[in-house]
Parts: sequence; structure tokens; C-alpha cells
Amino acid sequence: MRTESDWRAVQEEALQRRARGERVGFVPTMGFLHRGHTSLFALARPRCDWLVASIFVNPLQFGPTEDLGRYPRDPEGDAAKARAEGVDLLFTPTTLYHRDHSTRVIVDQVSDGLCGASRPTHFEGVATVVARLFGVVQPHVAVFGEKDYQQLQLIRRMTRDLALPIEVIGGPLVRDADGLALSSRNAYLSEEQRTRALSLHQALDDMAEAVAAGTRDAADLLEIGRRRIHADRLDYLEIRDATDLRPLNQVDGPARGFVAATYGGTRLIDNRSLSS
Ligand code: PAF
Repeated sequence: MRTESDWRAVQEEALQRRARGERVGFVPTMGFLHRGHTSLFALARPRCDWLVASIFVNPLQFGPTEDLGRYPRDPEGDAAKARAEGVDLLFTPTTLYHRDHSTRVIVDQVSDGLCGASRPTHFEGVATVVARLFGVVQPHVAVFGEKDYQQLQLIRRMTRDLALPIEVIGGPLVRDADGLALSSRNAYLSEEQRTRALSLHQALDDMAEAVAAGTRDAADLLEIGRRRIHADRLDYLEIRDATDLRPLNQVDGPARGFVAATYGGTRLIDNRSLSS
């Protein structure tokens, strides 16, 4: 595995490899890699000849009061994990934007509500950096985790709307043995907060069980979920269409439950399919 921080060098190599007929795979990350990320590398690996993973903590997607400054970092550990999963090139830009970078990518509809409500500039920052990373890495296939399900649907929509010739693949959410969705931000949690945070996936499980048992009304399902959650602050608990993320009153087709809550200063998200 090679590490490269210069985006021009990465783009040049990507274009050369594409010209030779190689298939380029890409997994963008913000580092502090865990099994959630490495599962995405494993998904991408057999789908390409040259696998690029990026590590870039993108300032554009953090709000002014968010954790940009203290976002956890582990460059050596990250490199070892990426190498072990067969990543060919680890792209670690220190800066990715021109000083006068002026383009923003806004993806309407799928960014409405959920994390888009409490993090108003977040998805604009995500879409902008992913569009730029796509331009640098020139992938045929890119893999994103379902942990950030709204982000995944937003990238799919952007790729479709801009006619980017990139196959976007979603990788299943990975959980710890106790059920907590893996997240780099779990590192911030105290033991007591972590125990209470398990209620997030339990609430989604309760809702999925209720759907399987025949409950269809979203208000009833949300009430079932809400009863389970122990959080310092519940940001949202919602049921939405699994593809276009429109809010649902009834669960009749592909539906997903979404939750976000804070524990101390740490905001966690989780989601799962509710369809039977
Ligand atoms: O999911 C993430 O880690 C980030 O939002 C991404 C896609 C790497 C863009 O910065």
C-alpha cells in the first residue's frame, strides 16, 4: 500500500490506470478506522483492480460548534488497517480545496430533515467534498456505509442527478457485540453513556418487531420506540421511506427507522430497516 497526500498525483495515477482499462474503487473516510470502515474496504476490494481509500476530516461538513477540532485521529492505526484490507492507495490530503474554492453542491429533498435539520450545512459539506473526491479519484465504484444512511441516499441522488458514471454501493451497518452501531464518536462515550446509548438500537429493534407483528401506524411505532430511549436529548426518532426518505405515516413498503440522540457532548445516530 502506498500513501499519497497530493491530490494531483492521485488524479494522475487514477487517469492512467483507467486508460489502461483498470477498474478504480474508492472508499472515502474521515479516519479513526473501525470495523465499519474495514467492512467497506472488503466490499470494494473484489469490485475493482485499484482500491483507493481516503482519510480527510472535511471542515466543510462540521458546524461551528461541532467536534472538528477534537475529531479522533489515528494515522498509524488507520494505515495498518487499510493495508490489512488490501487498500492499494491511502489518500491522506492535508488540504483538498483551493484557497478560493467557490463551488458548493446542494442536494435537495433527501437532505431535508433528520440530520439535515440539526446540522444545517452538514450535507452541503458532504456533497461538496464527495464531488471533489470523485473528481480526484475518478472511481468506477464507490462504497459508503449504511450507518450514515441519509448521506448514502444523498450521494446516490447527487451521482444520479449529475450523471456521474459511478456505481454507488451501500455497505451494511456494523455493530459491536452489544449492538451499538460502530462510530468513531463512540470513543467519546463514558461507560454509563455507552450503556444508555444501547437504547437507540433497542428502540429501532422494538419498532421492527412491532412492524413484523402487524403494527403499521407510524405514530404507534414511534411511541413504542420513544418508550425505550434513554438519552440526554433525543434529537429525532422518525420513520421514512427507505429510498427517497420521505416521512411516512404508514409502513406499507420499504421503510426505515432513524434515530439521533446526544449523550453528554456526543451525538450518535442509528437506523434500521423496518420492513417485514
Ligand atoms: O462518512 C464520512 O466519513 C464522511 O461524511 C465522508 C463521506 C468521508 C465525507 O467527508
